[in-house]
Amino acid sequence: MFDYPLSLQLIIFAFLLSELEAGITSTTTNVTVDDQDPSVLYSGGQWNLSNPYNSLDCEGFHHFSSQLSAFAVFNFTGIAIYFLSPLWPYSVGAQLVLDGQSRPVFVDLQDHSRPVNSSGGPETVSSAVVWGVENLESGNHSLRVEFAQGRSKYVVLDAFM
Ligand SMILES: *[C@@H]1O[C@H](CO)[C@@H](O)[C@H](O)[C@H]1NC(C)=O
Ligand SMILES: *[C@@H]1O[C@H](CO)[C@@H](O)[C@H](O)[C@H]1NC(C)=O
Ligand SMILES: *[C@@H]1O[C@H](CO)[C@@H](O)[C@H](O)[C@H]1NC(C)=O
Ligand SMILES: *[C@@H]1O[C@H](CO)[C@@H](O)[C@H](O)[C@H]1NC(C)=O
Ligand SMILES: *[C@@H]1O[C@H](CO)[C@@H](O)[C@H](O)[C@H]1NC(C)=O
Repeated sequence: MFDYPLSLQLIIFAFLLSELEAGITSTTTNVTVDDQDPSVLYSGGQWNLSNPYNSLDCEGFHHFSSQLSAFAVFNFTGIAIYFLSPLWPYSVGAQLVLDGQSRPVFVDLQDHSRPVNSSGGPETVSSAVVWGVENLESGNHSLRVEFAQGRSKYVVLDAFM
């Protein structure tokens, strides 16, 4: 299903959501939103798009930043949120804040199964769900992805679901 164009995914999502709100059915579906989707807003610092294409990324690319002030916001309507990311053989992570909660969650995106590669380079583990929250109140929510100061050298954003 993730091969459907985003517009079709959104139509399916909107349809299921309207059914949910009407209480007709409890069917839900996962919709993947890539880091290059216009609904993901980047601010606070320089974000870069990865290069070149890498099949380990969702849709082949991810955003990254090494700046303390960098953050991104994804506002969505739904009942669950997942953060998808590859893993790298060096210090990469993300600090996540859902709905302005005062306690941010740190998500470690380092591939600890490999020796640290101090020269950087591409990811070594394919993008997958690395964090998620379910059973949210049906409605609008906001997820903020921040640089994790003192915990990782890079913040990365590959996809939400
Ligand atoms: C959505 O994805 C999550 C994480 O992979 C999974 O646990 C959940 O069952 C999926 N939900 C649906 C409705 O497919
Ligand atoms: C990120 O983008 C900026 C502006 O285009 C560039 O100067 C910088 O070298 C890039 N950083 C990396 C790590 O690619
Ligand atoms: C996203 O949601 C937050 C919290 O409701 C709100 O403050 C912010 O303005 C929203 N951003 C956009 C671009 O809608
Ligand atoms: C470390 O990363 C560099 C740059 O991508 C790469 O050329 C090198 O092969 C990597 N080293 C190891 C041990 O994987
Ligand atoms: C939820 O967000 C949508 C799209 O931004 C907006 O049209 C709607 O009014 C919001 N609903 C509530 C209850 O805030």
